[in-house]
Amino acid sequence: MINQQKKLIDEIILELQEINVNYGAIQALKKINLTIKKGEVVTLIGANGAGKTTTLRAISQIVKSKSGNIIYSGRNITHRPPHEIVKLGLAHCPEGRRILAKQTVLDNLLLGAYIRSDQEIKSDIQKQFDLFPRLAQRRNQLSGTLSGGEQQMLAIARALMSRPKLLLLDEPSLGLAPTIVKEIFAIIQNLRATGVTILLVEQNANLALQIADRGYVLDAGSITLSGIASDLIKDERVKQAYLG
Ligand SMILES: Nc1ncnc2c1ncn2[C@@H]1O[C@H](COP(=O)(O)OP(=O)(O)OP(=O)(O)O)[C@@H](O)[C@H]1O
Ligand SMILES: [Mg+2]
Repeated sequence: MINQQKKLIDEIILELQEINVNYGAIQALKKINLTIKKGEVVTLIGANGAGKTTTLRAISQIVKSKSGNIIYSGRNITHRPPHEIVKLGLAHCPEGRRILAKQTVLDNLLLGAYIRSDQEIKSDIQKQFDLFPRLAQRRNQLSGTLSGGEQQMLAIARALMSRPKLLLLDEPSLGLAPTIVKEIFAIIQNLRATGVTILLVEQNANLALQIADRGYVLDAGSITLSGIASDLIKDERVKQAYLG
């Protein structure tokens, strides 16, 4: 029994316990509880302003929680500085991509490895080029001149350069044409095969639930529903509110 419990705890990579976040007088997150197991793809869906980005920012300590705990790989990381979080293997690919427009593709990738000093950075860049062939062809191009989809790919590749165990992806499909969205979601699925655990924030609930193992629904700062993705996609409440 103890062994079984231990195994269960070992498998949990991230746990949010009763997380509250305020922006001034506004409570953006209300007692958020969320668990991710190693190897899972978990999606967080919800309308504009529901608090999805805030949840990811709270995890990577870009915004401070008012109360509650964030446990990552068995450690309490609440109130640790963001750069320490990256060193622990947690990478955040932010909404709106935030790549350095005046730097080349290659320089942006190198920047993603800033916490590392090992000898494998070069071969990891090659891995990104294998995963994203469009970036390989454009390695010396200024990143600001990449298309929207290519910039999104670069943002993901840059996050991967820190060799994350857990990748937080904020709206990778935002503003992209359906064919590029398909390409990016296929890459996310490939990533899971390499052992990266993923927390995927999406407004495209349909697509997100198709590739996720489990999902959480966020509504006005509270988790209102959670479960196996294949159940959520059939749930009438989810269908009406998020699947159009
Ligand atoms: N820095 C900030 N200062 C004040 N209020 C903020 C700040 N950032 C977010 N908010 C507010 O917190 C709430 C949640 O915002 P958040 O960005 O987390 O939503 P979201 O679910 O990611 O929405 P979207 O789908 O539009 O990206 C919103 O009401 C937003 O206006
Ligand atoms: Mg957002």
